[in-house]
Amino acid sequence: MADANVGAPVSRHSVEERIGMLEELLDERYSVRAFLPQPVPRETVEHVLKVAQRTASWCNSQPWQVVIASGEAKERFRKLIYGEAASGAEDGHDFPPPREYLGVYLQRRRESGFQLYNTLGIARGDKAAYAKQALENYNFFGAPHVAIIHTDEALGVYGAIDCGGYVGNFMLAAQALGLGTIPQAALARHSGLIRRHFNLGDDRRVVCGISFGFADHAHKVNSYRTSRASIADTVTFIEE
Ligand SMILES: Cc1cc2nc3c(=O)[nH]c(=O)nc-3n(C[C@H](O)[C@H](O)[C@H](O)COP(=O)(O)O)c2cc1C
Repeated sequence: MADANVGAPVSRHSVEERIGMLEELLDERYSVRAFLPQPVPRETVEHVLKVAQRTASWCNSQPWQVVIASGEAKERFRKLIYGEAASGAEDGHDFPPPREYLGVYLQRRRESGFQLYNTLGIARGDKAAYAKQALENYNFFGAPHVAIIHTDEALGVYGAIDCGGYVGNFMLAAQALGLGTIPQAALARHSGLIRRHFNLGDDRRVVCGISFGFADHAHKVNSYRTSRASIADTVTFIEE
């Protein structure tokens, strides 16, 4: 009979510790929408990047490239993208955004939206307040750092999927190191501006941003947690 442990990694940790740690990180992580201004030490940022670099990708193409703006560079970028977003101008997505949220997707979108607005005391239907809160995306919610994740045009949707895996691992690594993150497709609405500002090649496509830093735990916007569907609502087991 084959030994199930052949080729298994040697670890100092038991299986319970390993899965426990992963679950803890996944359960703890949430999208941070208020950050403290203090910057993250460079070695911590590099640690996150080193861990996320282990992300799997089709043919190991590793299509993600990352621009991280901090300090004055972040401030210049913030002013530019905030200005464009506030003017109502949209430079366009590199990848088409969701066409429509239907059925259960609409329900989930509304639930998470109302959680955010209720937490902030924004009344239902107050479109001006919704728009003001949406603009906070372009202040990076006060984060000291913003990462732009971009991929290779020729790799198409699977390149973007690889970048999605990278974003997930980036967020988990950051969580393990005591940082907060928020992935932001809102930034990709201004892909042209991003490409020009950061001198990205014509063959690069902006997937999303990640603002990150230390979470402001005292801010009420960070006080709620989103729900998840059950496995029964998600997975179909087929055995016969
Ligand atoms: C690819 C992606 C793009 C997102 N874009 C935004 C965004 O532009 N602005 C925002 O406030 N949240 C954004 N989010 C955060 C989601 O709203 C959030 O992950 C979801 O509601 C689940 O909540 P949680 O992250 O707190 O668990 C994005 C998440 C993902 C994965």
